[in-house]
Amino acid sequence: DASDIEKGTYAHFMLKEIDEQPIVMRKIIKEYQDEHGDLIINESIRAAMKSCDRIYIIAAGTSYHAGLVGKNLIEKLAHIPVEVHVSSEFSYNMPLLSENPLFIFISQSGETADSRTVLVKIKEMGYPALTITNVPGSTLSREADYTLHLHAGPEIAVASTKAYTAQIAVLAILAADSAQARGYDLEFDLFQELGIVANAMDVLTAQKEELEQLTRDYLETTRNAFFIGRSMDYYVSLEGALKLKEISYIQAEGFAGGELKHGTIALIEKGTPVIGLATQANVNYSIRGNIQEVVARGANALIISMKGLEQDDDAFVIPAVHELFTSLVAVIPLQIIAYYAALHRGADVDKPRNLAKSVTVE
Ligand code: G6P
Repeated sequence: DASDIEKGTYAHFMLKEIDEQPIVMRKIIKEYQDEHGDLIINESIRAAMKSCDRIYIIAAGTSYHAGLVGKNLIEKLAHIPVEVHVSSEFSYNMPLLSENPLFIFISQSGETADSRTVLVKIKEMGYPALTITNVPGSTLSREADYTLHLHAGPEIAVASTKAYTAQIAVLAILAADSAQARGYDLEFDLFQELGIVANAMDVLTAQKEELEQLTRDYLETTRNAFFIGRSMDYYVSLEGALKLKEISYIQAEGFAGGELKHGTIALIEKGTPVIGLATQANVNYSIRGNIQEVVARGANALIISMKGLEQDDDAFVIPAVHELFTSLVAVIPLQIIAYYAALHRGADVDKPRNLAKSVTVE
């Protein structure tokens, strides 16, 4: 059938979409850059980002996790305060809003009902909305004032991969543009750094055999797994855990490295897999301490670090990228590990039980 043709030589859409990430990254670099190497962002979006006093990011699932990274990028580069909310919570328990809010809806499909409920409410209140989506012309795109396109191509696997990295890249571009519009100098060349990310993605997607072996070594028979990281790595831990649980059905949870000891460490037993991320220089020392705490209680720690921060025991080292953009690369080994964990358990990788690609009911 048609889906076999689209999959080409791949056994699953998820693996194909994981592999497309460097291509999508280069496509985004091209689409958001003019012939002088300058950023292209629609003038009215630029104006909305300039005049707002606070941004409210609204999203669900993986898109929510991309939003957490986006908050950091916007706050660090453009110095605009940002809140990130799960859409189904925001709609019935709205926080106190600032005077001039701008709403950013992040949605791969542009059809998520929980997010649309919020969009309808905030439009009734008269507030501006920007939708970042893979489907221009989708409901959330049509009903918002502005749209930014992910250019990721159709994502078929229920577990989102290339849309997540595309969302973060577009948020980075938006953050950098708003920084310039607000008079802050960028201390790096954005498109050059995203190009380095794309190259690192090429390296990582070519390391599937190594990652499949790590999956065998750490996750083959386990019932549960923990992901820990601090700062940017915390957000990637949440996404890594979501990927693993949604397709392999291994109970997986992501935690801030320093928070595990405040309760969850009670669950660590001999052999419990803990995947620790170490891509951030300023917390490298402290996350290593958190990993030692779980190892001392018997955990089987799989440490994924970044070149330059690596230590002897690390199982996997990611090529170095700018510290603001590590989530774009750190997530890839986690996606690949989740894929193999699901595959080895005989789970339906592209269509996990109980899940839908786009949830159009509240
Ligand atoms: C569903 C999908 C998730 C996705 C979420 C949000 O639950 O299974 O993979 O992250 O919806 O979807 P959206 O299209 O709004 O990004």
